[in-house]
Amino acid sequence: MQLGARAPEVCPQRAAGHGVGRAVIELDRVGKRYGTGDGAVHALRDIDLRIGAGEFVSIMGPSGSGKSTLLNLLSALDRPTSGRVVLDGRDIGTLGDDEITLFRRNRIGLVFQFFNLLPTMTAVENVLLPRMLGGRATPADRADAVALLQQVGLGHRLGHRPGALSGGEMQRVAIARAFATAPAIILADEPTGNLDSATGAEVLRLLRAQAETRGATVVMVTHDARAAAVGSRLIEIRDGRIAHDAAAQVAVDAYAVAALASG
Ligand SMILES: Nc1ncnc2c1ncn2[C@@H]1O[C@H](COP(=O)(O)OP(=O)(O)OP(=O)(O)O)[C@@H](O)[C@H]1O
Ligand SMILES: [Mg+2]
Repeated sequence: MQLGARAPEVCPQRAAGHGVGRAVIELDRVGKRYGTGDGAVHALRDIDLRIGAGEFVSIMGPSGSGKSTLLNLLSALDRPTSGRVVLDGRDIGTLGDDEITLFRRNRIGLVFQFFNLLPTMTAVENVLLPRMLGGRATPADRADAVALLQQVGLGHRLGHRPGALSGGEMQRVAIARAFATAPAIILADEPTGNLDSATGAEVLRLLRAQAETRGATVVMVTHDARAAAVGSRLIEIRDGRIAHDAAAQVAVDAYAVAALASG
């Protein structure tokens, strides 16, 4: 499954219409190694990457190629073993653990496949959680949480706890929570993996709206080429390196051509 030979000629930022402004995500020669000696795994090698405001980047690649490792670095959940990670203007390597925790809570929205909702809290309380961790949630915060749940089609499930919600509904609560702080960066790992196609399409629409209406930077890992096509740019990771990086439609067309050629 090789991307087309045209890819290197395409300037993704220009193709996606986001050529100006500072990068919100900047990686300089980033490497991530797990373990040492003979047993060491080089999960990422020499990654150079710049992603601007309002870009919606899809990341594809085989299992074990380093996609989740990359998302962990972009969410400051983990630190690189070499190179520099700058997120929303902050060099993560210069921040202490407490600063990173605060930064992550306020500036990054995480959408993971297993939603990490708190079972004892209602939908509204789960969405309010990032604000509650930062101090007391105000009535205005609560109104925002309700509005977010209405946007994801859950206005009729505000008081339900996760155990009383379907998988797709739980995923939408997790999405609303990820958007609750209006984060500069939204990271999603297989956000449509467990969803039926209609709910999956709705989740993709919500992610794209964050990029288009607020200028959020969205990075989504997916194995689904149709989901990837919703983004403005597609990056393919292989063996811990960026194998291709192009405007999404060009890249997805190339996937289709390659699949036809090999099938
Ligand atoms: N904590 C860890 N300790 C050691 N090796 C790890 C650790 N986490 C990941 N790896 C290894 O690093 C490589 C990249 O893993 P990663 O989870 O980033 O892959 P992925 O592209 O997300 O795969 P998938 O599509 O299966 O989710 C794999 O070879 C994996 O075994
Ligand atoms: Mg993964």
